[in-house]
This record gives sequence, C-alpha cells and structure tokens, in this order.
Amino acid sequence: MLTIKGYTHSVPAMCMDYRHVQAIHWLLLTYKPASVLEIGCFHGYSTTAVLDASRQFPLDVHLCDIVITPELRQLIADYDAAPMIHQCPSVAAIPRASCQWAIVDGDHALPTVSREVELLADTATVIAHDTNVATALGWVGFDGAEHLKRHYQADGRYRCYEDCQVRPGEWTERGFFVATREDLDLVTLANVINCWAP
Ligand SMILES: C[S@@+](CC[C@H](N)C(=O)[O-])C[C@H]1O[C@@H](n2cnc3c(N)ncnc32)[C@H](O)[C@@H]1O
Repeated sequence: MLTIKGYTHSVPAMCMDYRHVQAIHWLLLTYKPASVLEIGCFHGYSTTAVLDASRQFPLDVHLCDIVITPELRQLIADYDAAPMIHQCPSVAAIPRASCQWAIVDGDHALPTVSREVELLADTATVIAHDTNVATALGWVGFDGAEHLKRHYQADGRYRCYEDCQVRPGEWTERGFFVATREDLDLVTLANVINCWAP
C-alpha cells in the first residue's frame, strides 16, 4: 500500500484521489516503462506514485511544474530521488523529456492542453486527470482535459479507459483517464481501481 505523505481523508481540491494515485502506482509497477513525465506535481501527491515506483525498477523520471513547491522538494528528498525537474510550462518540457509515458495534470485550459496533445504524439501511454470535470461538475477552464480525452478516444491507435464513478467521500467523478498504444490490461486496471478503498 502506497503511503502518501500529508494525505487526509478529504481529498484536497487540487489533488488526485488516493484511489487514482494508487492506480498510477499499479500501472508503473506492472508495466515498468523506461521513462515517465509528470506534468503538474503541486505538493507531490501523485508524484509519490512515480517516485516510489522509481525505487523499485529503473525509471527515468521527469517532473514538470511551473512552481516547484517546498512540499514537492521535500518529497523528492524523502525518496532520495534525483528526477529531472523541468520548472517551466509543459509545452517546453514535453519535447525535452521525450518520455514513453506521460501523466497530465497541469493547466487544464484548452489552448495549453491542445498543444500538449500535439507534442505528446509519440507518447505510448498518456494518463490524465480531471477529464470529466467540465461535464460532471461544470467547472470552467477545464475544457482542455476533456479535449484530451476526446482526442485519444478518436485516435484508433489508442485504447482508452476512464474512471469517473461517483463515490461517497471521494471526488473520483473528476475523471482519471488512460490512453495507451501498449499492451496494458485496462479491464484489470478497472478492477484494481474499484477494489481500492481510500
Ligand atoms: C491540479 S495541480 C496537480 C496536482 C497533482 N497532480 C496531485 O495530484 O497532487 C496542477 C499543477 O499544475 C501546475 N501547472 C499549471 N500550469 C502549468 C503548465 N502550463 N505547465 C506545467 N505545470 C503547470 C500548477 O502549478 C499545479 O501545481
């Protein structure tokens, strides 16, 4: 079980649900990509999954955020990790990092995410958060995340899965989305997500 430092039972507004962080951890440990770029780290809740995985198999970790918070720096130190940090907008980091996998949870606005999707054209597996927020909760400024989802759903090279179930005490209806050109078992992923408790 992954321990996420500072995580409480109420999901902080900006952060992924515990269940979805666990899903990233499970995906990384199961499929062991060579490299991953995480866009949008904030205090490092989702980054915990990446750094913990990187201790268990060789994983080239790239972290991108326009602000590197003290909490994220502390997390990196706690893991004694040495990720490549890109303190810049995602659109600058994606070509530099050039990773097999990407986790997209940065600026959710359409202009940014449209460009991210173009730049991620060679990325084999894309994980994204908040892909159902505009529909489920009507949040303004999140239309980019839904654009990302529709883009991959329309691209015949990718198989897609989204968990956006409403669960009491969680905020999973915001949407956790995976698009992959690799041999990932998305049915097992769905089972794994549904089995976890926060
Ligand atoms: C929703 S928070 C990420 C939460 C994190 N994934 C978690 O689950 O704990 C969004 C983050 O994206 C960052 N961000 C906003 N615009 C960005 C951009 N254009 N490029 C990279 N990061 C960006 C913000 O600074 C913020 O830390």
